Amino acid sequence: MSTLDPAPDPRLHVNIDHVATVRQARREAFPDPVEWALRCEAAGAHGITCHLRKDRRHVQDADIHRLRAAVTTLLNLECSLDDSMLTIAEGSGSEAFCLVPENRLEISTEGGLDVIRETPRLREAVPRLAETGGHVSIFIDPDHRQLDAAAALGAPFVELHTGAYANARGAVREAELSRLAEASRYARSLGLRVNAGHGLDFENTGPIAAIAEIEELNIGFAMVARALFDGVDACVTEMLRLIAGARQ
Ligand code: PXP
Repeated sequence: MSTLDPAPDPRLHVNIDHVATVRQARREAFPDPVEWALRCEAAGAHGITCHLRKDRRHVQDADIHRLRAAVTTLLNLECSLDDSMLTIAEGSGSEAFCLVPENRLEISTEGGLDVIRETPRLREAVPRLAETGGHVSIFIDPDHRQLDAAAALGAPFVELHTGAYANARGAVREAELSRLAEASRYARSLGLRVNAGHGLDFENTGPIAAIAEIEELNIGFAMVARALFDGVDACVTEMLRLIAGARQ
């Protein structure tokens, strides 16, 4: 059983949504995201993340039950603030939850939750999920005002959105990296624990993993894409190697 105890290197949580995306393209029973999750665990991943979206475009309700029964590391469920999704999350048996924004038209989660605007709903959602015994995280942009608002809500974790960093190039990427590093330090100073994710891949993860405050990386699309060519074991091993090398 994996834990959320701080470790020398960030933990790798593999997001399995896009295995389900491939399966749903044909409404087949394969490829099975649960089998994939178990292969990732066997290769050394520290946790499994999935996002049950309201439109059920990839992960399905039955996957959550099967994941809960099969995952032996740690199950992290991403969910929106929608009441019906929170009810499913409460009954999911997940050890961790990440509250994310959800927009029907987006291709993937586009930005962090606007914690300031969503404070009233978060005031209900955070304790609701915490009551299950799971660790609650809020997915946010690396912004001081958002971090202040997250700290005021009493959620133990934030997950910093790395999408702007991942999409940028050159000097802009360097600036986004500094922004993430600075936000991580600020979050810790507020007593928040810090995870990160979105858009991370085999080329851009190293500098993020090197940020001392970051405890966990949630990586999905790049893992699934790489595994098509190299296989699951090789892609998990390579990402773990990259992460371990980043702080040395
Ligand atoms: N973290 C969160 C909160 C997400 O919503 C996602 C995308 O589902 C990820 C991490 C993983 O992003 P990617 O698939 O780009 O690695």
